[in-house]
Amino acid sequence: MNAVALVTGAAGGMGRVIVQRLAQDGFSVVAVDRAEDPLRELGDQLKKEGLDIQTRVVDLTKEAAIAELIDGLPALSALVNSAGLFDERGFFDLTQDDFRRTYELNLIAAASLTQRAAARMSAGAKVVNIASRAYLGARHHAHYVASKAALVGYTRASAMELAPKGILVNAIAPGLIDTPMLRALTPERLAAQLALQPTGQAGTPEDIANAVSFLAAPGMSFITGQVLFVDGGKSLGGSGA
Ligand SMILES: NC(=O)c1ccc[n+]([C@@H]2O[C@H](COP(=O)([O-])OP(=O)(O)OC[C@H]3O[C@@H](n4cnc5c(N)ncnc54)[C@H](O)[C@@H]3O)[C@@H](O)[C@H]2O)c1
Repeated sequence: MNAVALVTGAAGGMGRVIVQRLAQDGFSVVAVDRAEDPLRELGDQLKKEGLDIQTRVVDLTKEAAIAELIDGLPALSALVNSAGLFDERGFFDLTQDDFRRTYELNLIAAASLTQRAAARMSAGAKVVNIASRAYLGARHHAHYVASKAALVGYTRASAMELAPKGILVNAIAPGLIDTPMLRALTPERLAAQLALQPTGQAGTPEDIANAVSFLAAPGMSFITGQVLFVDGGKSLGGSGA
């Protein structure tokens, strides 16, 4: 049987390409999302391509649903936490509820999945968390920035906790990536973001899938607790001008 990889947010702009890439790498992929129709369409499409895919509709903010999901699967060789919630809010408009619903998915769901999956993983298994370059600081979404900074902290803590079991945990910090999430920005905000981009353009979901493929690969055995920026140089801190 192929090694099993679970990808959350699988129906998303990045998630679907990550699913496809890991299946092409030879994993049996369990694609998880709460959005039923796009997930089913993705599964049908990738099965037609001859890829080894199963789909599971799960709301990852429900702890019992996470337990049922993980306990119903064979031990995972790779877990990719890509499900994430992003929206923009003025700093003084943010409510406690904005923080709660963002943390519920971006941090707590990823942590619950990691804990539950890692309890049954063998040495050599990988966890890859999709954080964001924004964790370094960004305007107009302090709740999201804070949730991704928390996910990076959790990545480092779980890398330490799980290293004795031979499980490697890393994060990817995407910059601007051309997905529906990016199209949630107003045209003005998008133009402003692109102007700050040293390469002058957004990346693609394939750029992220390449990084996930590298960090999840069976031969990757000595990198843990790291944040890999896939951001066209935005984390360098200048516009490149
Ligand atoms: N797109 C970007 O430019 C960008 C940049 C930096 C970081 N990221 C991060 O990359 C990851 C993937 O982004 P994307 O562009 O694919 O986002 P997306 O919005 O296209 O996909 C997110 C997916 O998560 C799913 N989801 C939401 N709530 C859920 C829940 N409770 N249970 C299960 N699934 C749920 C959605 O249905 C959706 O399919 C996210 O964590 C995001 O924060 C994206």
